[in-house]
Amino acid sequence: MRYDEIDDKHDPFPMMVMENPEHSPTQCYFRNDEYGVWLYHANCIEFMDILIKKYPEGKFDMIFADPPYFLSNGGITCHAGKMVKVDKGQWDKSNGPEMNHEFNMTWLSRCQKILKPNGTIWVSGTHHIIHSIGYAMQQLDMKILNDITWEKPNPPPNLSCRYFTHSTETVIWAAKNDKAKHCFNYDAMRKINYGKQMKSVWTLPAPNGNEKDFGKHPTQKPIALLERIILASTNEGDLVLDPFCGSSTTGVAAILLNRKYVGIDLEDDYLQLSKKRLEEAIKKSSVKDKEVHLCEIISQ
Ligand SMILES: C[S@@+](CC[C@H](N)C(=O)[O-])C[C@H]1O[C@@H](n2cnc3c(N)ncnc32)[C@H](O)[C@@H]1O
Repeated sequence: MRYDEIDDKHDPFPMMVMENPEHSPTQCYFRNDEYGVWLYHANCIEFMDILIKKYPEGKFDMIFADPPYFLSNGGITCHAGKMVKVDKGQWDKSNGPEMNHEFNMTWLSRCQKILKPNGTIWVSGTHHIIHSIGYAMQQLDMKILNDITWEKPNPPPNLSCRYFTHSTETVIWAAKNDKAKHCFNYDAMRKINYGKQMKSVWTLPAPNGNEKDFGKHPTQKPIALLERIILASTNEGDLVLDPFCGSSTTGVAAILLNRKYVGIDLEDDYLQLSKKRLEEAIKKSSVKDKEVHLCEIISQ
């Protein structure tokens, strides 16, 4: 059955894309309709083009994107106390600042179109790409709402001793355009910040060992970061997209918070890891476990 022939009546969430565009396998890798979880093996740009045709008014309440940082270019870093080359994979190699910016404009413009009118997008990155992302958002007339500084309390040391220790990443939060009436759960944020207004600097540790039980992704984000993002900007039942989902940290947090999730990645190894993590989150997601988990988040 072709994608165009699938209608909302016969499919609880008609996003099973069977077309094969030029650079994209575009296959559903894992789905759980009851929990609202869909994982796709696809090139997110071609995948979003298909969705835009089907949903010209927008489909997603929120997008979290953690795109390639383009930093795997022969530099060194410290991993587990050892000096290692930065090589996260072919997907992370730079093509020069102009091409990298063009890539960012390409996927970001698709995200803007596929957001619902009041939807918002969060994009995380280091200095290697975050300035291009901010500029692209301005070029696309998105409305930048905040730039969050995620501070890591235990960053790896700087081995060269010629720079400050890199200890932050930036997450830009933006609305589709300046007409959007975006969702911000102010009270929930104040509650987890001991009754005070939540500031734009968030101190949260990198993913712990438990979060890597099924294997590692080289740029895996902590679940606590995604939980805060999802809690701040969506409501229960909302639909969240992660176009560069990696190990599906966004999906795990979405399941724990009763949101629906669509994840996309190009790499088979990461999809396998995602599937394992999503299945585990679904298993854990009994009401009792969820209550315990949320208490843990709130007391952090
Ligand atoms: C920075 S990582 C995301 C890590 C993720 N946030 C996590 O917590 O595991 C970026 C991911 O984007 C994927 N990727 C790169 N280009 C892509 C594309 N055009 N379409 C879909 N996925 C892509 C890579 O395979 C990689 O897993």
